[in-house]
Amino acid sequence: MDKEKKLEQLYASVSSMTNNPLVIPGSTHIVFGEGPADADIMIIGEAPGKEEDELGRPFVGRSGKLLTRALESIGLQRDKIYITNIVKTRPPNNRTPSLQEIEIGRSLLFKQIQIIQPKIICTLGASALEGLNPDVIQKPFRITKLRGKVFPYNVAKLLPTLHPAYILRNPAAAELFLRDLLTLKKAACI
Ligand code: URA
Repeated sequence: MDKEKKLEQLYASVSSMTNNPLVIPGSTHIVFGEGPADADIMIIGEAPGKEEDELGRPFVGRSGKLLTRALESIGLQRDKIYITNIVKTRPPNNRTPSLQEIEIGRSLLFKQIQIIQPKIICTLGASALEGLNPDVIQKPFRITKLRGKVFPYNVAKLLPTLHPAYILRNPAAAELFLRDLLTLKKAACI
């Protein structure tokens, strides 16, 4: 079976589940992820916000627009990248996901990674990195210390960077964010 079919089947299995542990009460849609099933690059965020919850698509609000513009500014097309989140439904009032919600999201995320087999995974912010639970990174970690470094991650590579919502709050960090995305582009050899 090809990767696209496998992802479709996985989505069908989670979206048809009753009492689905992935679903945080009060959320509207499961935001599964989007992009080519055979993408070289996979970007993982934290959790859907208001717009994402309404539309069922990842990174379509303010953070998403910043991410899309930043990718385009370095010659990476968003639609060539698979984009998802560690937590697939919106936590109330956009609160940071709990460790339990991250752990619940992990098993679905690992299945997505196994199907897509990206060359490199870029995590945005601390929750996404926590979600991947990489054994090459000791806890507790500080995202500001790890960002921009490429780590081995199973058969792929891992590049942690800052979350676009952090860049919206701290515009001075935009330069670091862009630098990390350039490292991502180089590491994916695109
Ligand atoms: N922030 C995230 O982490 N993910 C989204 O999809 C949107 C905002």
